[in-house]
Amino acid sequence: MTDNPLNFDDLKEALAQYGQQHVLQHWPQLNSEQKSNLTAQLSRVDLAELVSLACGEDEVTDFGALASRASSPPAVRADGSGADWSPTQAQERGEEALRNGEIGAVIVAGGQGTRLGFDQPKGMFPIGPVSGRTLFQFFVDRLLAVNEKYGCRIPLYIMTSDATDQETREYFAANENLGIPIEDLYIFKQGVMPAVDAVTGKLLMQSKSALALSPDGHGGTVSALNRCGCLADAAKRGIQQLAYIQVDNPLAHLCEPELIGHHLMAASEMTTQVVRKRYPMEKVGNVVLVDGQVQIIEYSDLPESAAKAVDEDGSLKLWAGNIAVHLFKLKFLQRVAGEADSLPFHRALKKVPHCDQLGQLVSPTKPNATKFERFIFDLLPIAKNAFVVESYAGEAFAPVKNADGAETDTPNAAKTAIIDLHRHWLEEAGVCVDEGVQVEINPRLALTAGDLREKISANQRIDADRYFDTGLES
Ligand code: UD1
Repeated sequence: MTDNPLNFDDLKEALAQYGQQHVLQHWPQLNSEQKSNLTAQLSRVDLAELVSLACGEDEVTDFGALASRASSPPAVRADGSGADWSPTQAQERGEEALRNGEIGAVIVAGGQGTRLGFDQPKGMFPIGPVSGRTLFQFFVDRLLAVNEKYGCRIPLYIMTSDATDQETREYFAANENLGIPIEDLYIFKQGVMPAVDAVTGKLLMQSKSALALSPDGHGGTVSALNRCGCLADAAKRGIQQLAYIQVDNPLAHLCEPELIGHHLMAASEMTTQVVRKRYPMEKVGNVVLVDGQVQIIEYSDLPESAAKAVDEDGSLKLWAGNIAVHLFKLKFLQRVAGEADSLPFHRALKKVPHCDQLGQLVSPTKPNATKFERFIFDLLPIAKNAFVVESYAGEAFAPVKNADGAETDTPNAAKTAIIDLHRHWLEEAGVCVDEGVQVEINPRLALTAGDLREKISANQRIDADRYFDTGLES
């Protein structure tokens, strides 16, 4: 349908054409504001596309067949092997790009954190093991540190959703934007997709006057960046590459020079950072090579036999786990933003509360609805020179997904990973940290072990929990 709200008769006719006229069932009871809201919502739905998705008329991927042709992707390994250039050359190239102001940053923070059992935006989750700093504060501190170290001003584009937008804005406003200059911070909202009944394909209503809508997946980042003017802003600033992370990984190396350097040396339109999977069924996407193209097969789509397949030396054949840290050439995003169908939709069967034909609210006890999402990593196969860089999980990946008490990916596990990494840095700098003592380092003091070595005096002992903030007392 069009961008302009349609009148009632046009709307009714268009809906009837696609068998979706039931959404107007309660129309006579709606007031004029509700009518115009519903009309506006419907005007933004591409009914032809939605109905074709609901009927499964789009190309459905046979992941079994795909997995059988998948092999490990060519990658720069964590020890630096696998590229025609050295890690030092990559580091220098990345530092140069930062100094030249060519890098912008994107954080996707539209997810609701349902699994985490946290009822605020996930970025507001306190993850600092000693400081209690939030995930948002972690990333902003990191960016401010990079800005300071390389004399640049990295714009930060944060993507929210209907569920997280207002609270995220209020949080930043109430905390002086966590220190980031207001002119370098952009909070923008992702798009939505309607949920449909899993059996009938009919649009579900959240209430008598509103569709049941959900975020369109992080694949919606590209169109949202474009729609909200962020791509244009980045171009105006002379940004050439955007560094992308998810809000749920406090160890994500946002704007890390070496990664940027690898991406640039490979003349890649999209580079993705991976870690070696810890076990075959780990809930991470699998970065693979299929028919000469780098792509990601999501854990839920990968057959168990393929996940467990090993090479002759007993190591996992599909070893490369997606940590959702990507680098994009800005021109690539500008190009694909103009191509509506550049990313396919994935389906998920979910429980969606909805309003039934009698206007009663139904809270389903089992999945009743199909939701449609786009995934940003589906850009890999269409990117020129897509590239893969491995890093060590202990240095780059501490996902915060599930509430404490779950087996994996909990806040406690992430806090332990942060403490372990920072303890290691301190020990490398010659500092003795007592057993069981919790340490945490603000990136504004040290972004790397090397930075810390230059700032801290060796031969000291840390015998109580300590947060190393921006300054060190002598
Ligand atoms: C995701 C990846 C998986 C990867 C893992 C690493 C997908 C489909 N899978 O899994 O390959 O190994 O992270 O941690 O992404 N988000 C939005 N808007 C949306 C949906 C998600 O902003 O519409 C954001 C969330 O805030 C979150 C991130 O994207 O930060 C990941 O989403 P989530 O659904 O939690 O993905 P995972 O299943 O954890």
